[in-house]
Amino acid sequence: MRSLVTLLPALACTVSTVLALPLNTTNTTLPTPAPGAGAGACIISNATSPILPSKDPWYKPPANSFWETTLPGTVLCSRPAPAQDETPGSSAMNILFRTTDSHDNPTWTVTTVLAPSTPRSPPAMISYQHFMDSPSVDDSPSYRIYKEVELYFIVDSLLQKGYYVNMPDYEGPKASFTAGKMSGHATLDSVTAALRFLPDGIQYAMYGYSGGSFATEWAAELAESYAPKLHFAGAGIGGAYPNVTDAFEKLRELQLTDSAWGKHLRSAMLGIGNEHQDAADSAMDILISMGKLSTKDWEAAKKIVRSTSKMDAQAIYDFSGQLLQSATVQNVLEEDARFGLHGLPRMPMVIHRHELDPLSSTAETTSLWFGYCFHGARVLYHLNPDVSKAQGQANFDWHRQEGIDGMFKGMPQYFEQMFNGTFLPDGCRWVYDNWTVL
Ligand SMILES: *[C@@H]1O[C@H](CO)[C@@H](O)[C@H](O)[C@H]1NC(C)=O
Ligand SMILES: *[C@@H]1O[C@H](CO)[C@@H](O)[C@H](O)[C@H]1NC(C)=O
Ligand SMILES: *[C@@H]1O[C@H](CO)[C@@H](O)[C@H](O)[C@H]1NC(C)=O
Ligand SMILES: *[C@@H]1O[C@H](CO)[C@@H](O)[C@H](O)[C@H]1NC(C)=O
Ligand SMILES: *[C@@H]1O[C@H](CO)[C@@H](O)[C@H](O)[C@H]1NC(C)=O
Ligand SMILES: *[C@@H]1O[C@H](CO)[C@@H](O)[C@H](O)[C@H]1NC(C)=O
Repeated sequence: MRSLVTLLPALACTVSTVLALPLNTTNTTLPTPAPGAGAGACIISNATSPILPSKDPWYKPPANSFWETTLPGTVLCSRPAPAQDETPGSSAMNILFRTTDSHDNPTWTVTTVLAPSTPRSPPAMISYQHFMDSPSVDDSPSYRIYKEVELYFIVDSLLQKGYYVNMPDYEGPKASFTAGKMSGHATLDSVTAALRFLPDGIQYAMYGYSGGSFATEWAAELAESYAPKLHFAGAGIGGAYPNVTDAFEKLRELQLTDSAWGKHLRSAMLGIGNEHQDAADSAMDILISMGKLSTKDWEAAKKIVRSTSKMDAQAIYDFSGQLLQSATVQNVLEEDARFGLHGLPRMPMVIHRHELDPLSSTAETTSLWFGYCFHGARVLYHLNPDVSKAQGQANFDWHRQEGIDGMFKGMPQYFEQMFNGTFLPDGCRWVYDNWTVL
């Protein structure tokens, strides 16, 4: 049994109640929500074991609470995360908060905040955007932390270093994988919400690899315009795909011979449709013309595209080829998925990649870095040329190995430098290194 010593989850439900709570006290007793408009309206699912997000009523904002009128980042509900014994660190809480979707409409999502057993001094928090890579809310990190050893291990490694961890379900309530604004807004608002429960003056940085780099990158670009009150000590992304159209083209080819990539392509196409009705319509028209779908029904379409028996690699190749020809989809990808168009990251940043990462070209990442630097951002570009480790491995592993090396060997030092103020004091740098010579 773990004790709730360093993080105090509040079972409070309304905005006014939450704001009135002592947010950073060291106490093992949960506060009783004070009376106030709508107090008690949050759905208490009483879950002692985790429930799928699609089945857990807690994952929706309370009815008639006027949550739409609150500011982005407002805490709508909070609870101790179910099954504290199964989460890493000393305690964990879930926060339901208000955010904004890709169409600038109010929406909500959940984040999980975890406390380390021994917080470092001065305190620091890492917002870790996991590679959720799914068009289903049931793959949200807040739930997957109980199921996925890899996620548990990554978060635990940060907690062991004394960092608080914020882990947002950044795809939102529709699981909008590859919707840039949704992911960026949710990441930024999750930090605003998490800070209410963390020590005053805490420093924070964010990181994401692969699918998680997508949310992190969008958050870094949107931070200045969308969440100007946040001051990140730094941001890191790895295994990124700055031109999503190009990543789709690469995935189309890769999945013909390596099924590990197929799931990502299927998920990304559906994630875009989850957020953009016009893209979903285009996808369904194509499926109907291919004889895969009889009538327009997005839920049915999703099942078909995710099924390897209904759509094999060749069918996915054809379907995605037609989808990328659609002007509607091209427009959506340009507006809501491509990097480098929505603002300049003002926090110092690390961009790392393996030179042979098959998901994007080094030229694309280099030009993203160069563009940022040209406009005055501070970015360290860490390019890994090491071919020895991945020799003889499937191409999926070039991407995977860089994630492991970047997260466990590289970023810990970069985070420390970000928090002690020694990271990239000015300008931009390029490091050509295999993570052994930092
Ligand atoms: C801790 O909880 C107890 C019991 O609810 C309360 O009396 C006390 O004031 C709390 N301490 C702090 C520091 O909030
Ligand atoms: C959870 O427990 C509380 C108190 O016993 C009860 O009022 C509430 O209805 C329960 N919630 C659910 C979803 O069962
Ligand atoms: C908690 O908040 C109080 C008042 O805002 C502050 O003085 C104190 O330093 C904070 N505690 C920690 C551990 O940061
Ligand atoms: C993005 O990739 C696509 C497909 O490879 C390419 O046609 C397009 O020119 C690229 N866009 C930019 C801005 O480089
Ligand atoms: C900052 O952190 C880096 C990385 O751990 C370390 O090498 C350096 O000595 C630290 N500098 C200061 C001033 O604490
Ligand atoms: C990594 O780079 C260093 C220095 O460039 C080199 O000595 C070392 O052999 C490389 N390690 C691997 C595994 O390639």
